[in-house]
Amino acid sequence: MEDKLKIPNHVGLIMDGNGRWATSKGLSRSEGHKAGYLNLEKLNKYIFKKGVNVLSIYALSTDNFKRPKQEINYIINLFLNNFFKEKDFYQKNNIKVVFSGRRNHFSEKVLKAMDDIVEQTKNNTSAIFNICFDYSSRNEIIDALEKIKEDNINNLDQETFNKYLYHDLPPIDLLIRTSGEQRLSDFMLWQVAYAEFYFPKTMFPDFDEKEFDLAILEYNKRNRKFGGIK
Ligand code: IPE
Ligand code: IPE
Ligand code: MG
Repeated sequence: MEDKLKIPNHVGLIMDGNGRWATSKGLSRSEGHKAGYLNLEKLNKYIFKKGVNVLSIYALSTDNFKRPKQEINYIINLFLNNFFKEKDFYQKNNIKVVFSGRRNHFSEKVLKAMDDIVEQTKNNTSAIFNICFDYSSRNEIIDALEKIKEDNINNLDQETFNKYLYHDLPPIDLLIRTSGEQRLSDFMLWQVAYAEFYFPKTMFPDFDEKEFDLAILEYNKRNRKFGGIK
């Protein structure tokens, strides 16, 4: 019998390629973001069903605010008008929703919607869905260092530092970036220290359950050594 597949504890997902997916079909970039969002709504449920305990997605980077306002507002509104209505799903499935990022780019309405879902799901214990929204890993590290300075911490170690990040999450085991790009673009630099990297060519709107299964198969072929001998 085939051995049972190892499921990564924490998956990082850089959802890239919405724009190219749309352009290749003669659609607008916004339609690409919509297709990506609809894919995410199905895919995240599948990923949790597979047994992943923490899922971190890169939904909007701080550098994305360099794009035209209209495109950014479209992405934020996709979340505002759809994601926050899914509260019941996360509640029913005991999944805690958290956000990582700075808050200064968002309107009161968006912040309130974010805070509501966080508040409603804060005691859930079976999994964590971490949404990186206006996120920059370098800013996360700077924000952590500022708090560490304020708290006059001496003898800083890795465990303590991790607690000062936006959330005290376990390390990422499997990092997936769709669309063929092979870079991190300022995503969870500290958390991916020993992650396995997987770069499928598929554009995010087409990265479905089958594609995720392929990622898990590939993950199972990797030999993780963490500096030791295996
Ligand atoms: C990813 O798709 C979504 C965000 C960055 C918000 P892109 O919009 O980057 O798509 P490409 O890279 O232009 O194809
Ligand atoms: C990273 O993708 C951000 C998200 C997927 C949200 P980008 O498409 O913005 O990254 P670059 O500009 O290609 O590095
Ligand atoms: Mg991109």
